[in-house]
Amino acid sequence: HPSNSQMEGGSVLERANCRAKGGAPGFKVAILGAAGGIGQPLAMLMKMNPLVSVLHLYDVVNAPGVTADISHMDTGAVVRGFLGQPQLDAALTGMDLVIIPAGVPRKPGMTRDDLFKINAGIVKTLCEGIARCCPNAIVNLISNPVNSTVPIAAEVFKKAGTYDPKRLLGVTMLDVVRANTFVAEVLGLDPREVSVPVVGGHAGVTILPLLSQVKPPCSFTKEETEYLTKRIQDGGTEVVQAKAGAGSATLSMAYAAVKFADCCLRGLRGDAGIVECAFVASQVTELPFFATQVKLGRGGAEEIYQLGPLNEYERAGLEEAKKELATSIEKGVSFIRK
Ligand code: NAD
Ligand code: LMR
Repeated sequence: HPSNSQMEGGSVLERANCRAKGGAPGFKVAILGAAGGIGQPLAMLMKMNPLVSVLHLYDVVNAPGVTADISHMDTGAVVRGFLGQPQLDAALTGMDLVIIPAGVPRKPGMTRDDLFKINAGIVKTLCEGIARCCPNAIVNLISNPVNSTVPIAAEVFKKAGTYDPKRLLGVTMLDVVRANTFVAEVLGLDPREVSVPVVGGHAGVTILPLLSQVKPPCSFTKEETEYLTKRIQDGGTEVVQAKAGAGSATLSMAYAAVKFADCCLRGLRGDAGIVECAFVASQVTELPFFATQVKLGRGGAEEIYQLGPLNEYERAGLEEAKKELATSIEKGVSFIRK
């Protein structure tokens, strides 16, 4: 029997396409920016997810190499690669979930907002593609500054007439992952047993961990509260500084992105009771977007939960967070409305 590599490329591809079409139940997922620091481990982990039947890997560089590599993993999902703008529409057509880690990362000394100039245009172009080719897909937006890129995406979708606020989710899962880790460390618990809601947004003081609502119920001293809040808010900067010019969090982000994407897919499948934090269109505060716990279902973020009771420290943090968030949201909106 000829091995796959000896077979005619066409027949191998045909069988893969056939499997993708008829066979295994599952969802079609695209990663935009799949050859990047986040994109590569994210692609690998999504290839391991049994809920994924088709995985499209799009980037403006190196997509064929990453695709060839990942496609050799003996898991169910069929992997296809797409390189450059002319292949964007093909990458997006028919997708159920689109995950976007495309764009430049921070270097030491930069804020996430310093990335706006480059990443705003990238997110705009990619979201125009989504509006054209898979307007009903759930979108997980990772590209920074999330506090502005989510409003940009919303404006692009509004312009195209495809906007469904429930389906657009800014990924703040890494803040939750960090909060669970750091809080568990202080409490001497296994991080898998700890759940910390993190609300607001995804930059500096807009990242607001609600330590008064940690599960399992516990209490912290003033010093512990201040240490934990600051460490969670500065988690991204801690990694940027440690990487010393070689980029920002990629591996923990890929882990967080897959954890979040898996929740979105289980929601799409109809599983009950899936609640995670995300930066979404919201009426929880006077701001048009805000990160809180949301219930993920067939329609995306189907229910958006209120903040719950806050202590005085958190109420002060909330006011600070809202000030910065308002500016970042407005910057994103006006980038499209001009
Ligand atoms: P990276 O530079 O390693 O990778 C980015 C990838 O995007 C590259 O492969 C690049 O070719 C690709 N890209 C650039 N322009 C593109 C376009 N127009 N279309 C498709 N792909 C394009 O960066 P990274 O470390 O993977 O980080 C990516 C983004 O994620 C950054 O903006 C970073 O700040 C952000 N990030 C967000 C979080 C979060 O919690 N939301 C966490 C970590 C990083
Ligand atoms: C993070 O929180 O790690 C990301 O937003 C990347 C960064 O620039 O800090």
